[in-house]
Amino acid sequence: MDFSIDVAITLILFILPAYFANSTPVIFGGGEPLDFGKKFLDGRRLLGKGKTIRGFLSGVFAGMLIGVLEALILPYTPFNFFCNPSNYVVLAFFLSTGTMAGDSLGSFIKRRLAIPSGSPSLLLDQLAFLAIALFFAYPRASFLYALESLLFLFVLTYFLHVAFNVLANKLGLKRVPW
Ligand code: CTP
Ligand code: MG
Repeated sequence: MDFSIDVAITLILFILPAYFANSTPVIFGGGEPLDFGKKFLDGRRLLGKGKTIRGFLSGVFAGMLIGVLEALILPYTPFNFFCNPSNYVVLAFFLSTGTMAGDSLGSFIKRRLAIPSGSPSLLLDQLAFLAIALFFAYPRASFLYALESLLFLFVLTYFLHVAFNVLANKLGLKRVPW
């Protein structure tokens, strides 16, 4: 597959549910923590107060909403990468649950490294969700997983994540700019 602007647009449309899943909990998160306040063997929280059930579910819901919109719109565009539109919804489910699982895994690793909830961790914060989302979605969309495509997604996601967190901080949605 030659890397072109069309491939880049297709990849962005492919990963969009993961981006929405990852950013929605900042707005809708809160309430009961995902780890129910439980601690790991090291005495620190399993995931910490930054990961909540409502945040997890709102992320999956938002990602799937994007999948539904893609199923309705993409068949009428040159960027239709599935024959059956319902595949967009199924893909969005795997991307979104993968995103939220990867985000939680990132927090689990941060707590084991004694990094407090809300403190930054270079790469884990920006890329753990993407790695697990791609892993969950692989059986559905392996035809998009060329090496240069993966590289493009990791680099793009890194910079978008940094930019959007600075923006969310300026808008008062996040206390910290990461
Ligand atoms: N959030 C949530 N539930 C989730 C993920 C995120 O409620 N499953 C909300 C929390 O309010 C969290 C905010 O979104 O504080 C920002 O998310 P993130 O930066 O991923 O969490 P941190 O607070 O930085 O915690 P951690 O150090 O564990 O990543
Ligand atoms: Mg954070």
